[in-house]
Amino acid sequence: MTQSEKERVVIFDTTLRDGEQSPGATMTHAEKLEIAGLLDEMGVDIIEAGFPIASEGDFKAVSDIARASVNSVICGLARANYGDIDRCWEAVRHAAQPRIHTFIGTSPLHRAIPNLTRDEMADLIHQTVSHARNLCDNVQWSPMDATRTEWDYLARVVEIAIRAGATTINIPDTVGYTAPAESADLIRRLIAEVPGASDVVFATHCHNDLGMATANSLAAVAGGARQVECTINGLGERAGNTALEEVDMALKVRGDIMPYTTGIDTTKIMNISRRVATVSGFPVQFNKAIVGKNAFAHESGIHQDGMLKNAETFEIMRPEDVGLLATNIVMGKHSGRAALRAKLGELGFELGDNQLRDVFVRFKELADRKKEVYDDDLVALMRSGEDPENDRIRLQSLRVQCGTEGPQQADMTLLIEGQPHSTTQTGDGPVDASFNAVKALFPHEARLQLYQVHAVTEGTDAQATVSVRMEEAGRVVTGQSADTDTVVASVKAYINALNNLVVRREKSAPGEDRREVSYKYLS
Ligand code: KIV
Ligand code: ZN
Repeated sequence: MTQSEKERVVIFDTTLRDGEQSPGATMTHAEKLEIAGLLDEMGVDIIEAGFPIASEGDFKAVSDIARASVNSVICGLARANYGDIDRCWEAVRHAAQPRIHTFIGTSPLHRAIPNLTRDEMADLIHQTVSHARNLCDNVQWSPMDATRTEWDYLARVVEIAIRAGATTINIPDTVGYTAPAESADLIRRLIAEVPGASDVVFATHCHNDLGMATANSLAAVAGGARQVECTINGLGERAGNTALEEVDMALKVRGDIMPYTTGIDTTKIMNISRRVATVSGFPVQFNKAIVGKNAFAHESGIHQDGMLKNAETFEIMRPEDVGLLATNIVMGKHSGRAALRAKLGELGFELGDNQLRDVFVRFKELADRKKEVYDDDLVALMRSGEDPENDRIRLQSLRVQCGTEGPQQADMTLLIEGQPHSTTQTGDGPVDASFNAVKALFPHEARLQLYQVHAVTEGTDAQATVSVRMEEAGRVVTGQSADTDTVVASVKAYINALNNLVVRREKSAPGEDRREVSYKYLS
């Protein structure tokens, strides 16, 4: 079957809304704009850019993304009330192609929260969808927790939303509860039995709590859905959302049994995956389908032998199809600034002159310590959150005593607002002693929620990438760093998170970061 004979499925990306809802995945304004630009460039049809009523920051991000959009439809989320919908419209109306997405929880559990009867909720759906449609020609409506909503009530409210003017009906599997056969049947039945269904597009929005989000989304497409909602790297609350790269590559590789096409340029997948991992602070698991570090690695002798004879022996798609460069050309201490710029460009990092100057210094330091600098080392270097011009806290020196004769001890000097401050602290291991030293020099109440170490490449001289997540008075921040010394990487990641926390403290009072917008309530 040729590409043009296949049916078109629309890709709706919600990395910047549902993805960003993952605790700790908060992105800065500039990062959101950058990711939206990459999504637009890769051919995403609809970008859900945020939840404008949630905070001033979300509102500004959605309106700036709307203004900057080129090809994609820009969508904002709104609960079922006029205030949310008006605010959403104010933000998205700047787009060449705006969309309002309004939703309400329709399952018995969700109906109980605002304490509405079935009829009262049905009336509210009619009013709010009509209101949205009076503002915008392109309106999406979602019955949240649709897969746990009684069939008769779901069919009834879908019909009401269609009559009120919704142009897309999204069927969310909010808690990742459905299974493929059921997912297909639900969409098929809605299309067959709800009056007016043939006038709208049905969408599928799956969460991955049981690891079935991609399978459920593809099954929904088989059942008639023509919009798939997803995120890059499957980012999202709990176990995440359907991963865009999985759906798209599955459709591409198995076009023989799934005759659908999308507008996605798959060669842009790796680049955006890396950027989202970097800015969200959520590293991609090594064995993640399509974008994991090991997705195209063939370790075993039998596999390697087969691959050398014919790549198709064990590979169902080529690394180049997802934008992985065939070469992993090694950089070293003799590589110059132009070569570094070109290499980083290939890896998807476009740097200005100032940024290149700083990265080049760090690259040279790394190349002095490590004979061969691989692509993954450079990605780790870019991921490390240091910003020498703006960081309030910087590590000047660290000496650690560790080994079998405790206690472990850290002698540390930090530059705080440019002034050196030193201390010596002990702890239960070198990392604990070092973190105690940071705490002594820069006292804070933030609680460490996550501390994760990964080796970037093989070998004992490999860099370690460290991610930390911490929380203070409801503000969750992340930090990353990479170094050939695991303890140094850990301290720098911790300091990176503290620098992010300082910025967040200045931007908002506790709890005001994001207005407490509950998905469960109506206002
Ligand atoms: O998972 C969900 O139900 C959602 C809705 C807001 C569409 O994200
Ligand atoms: Zn969701």
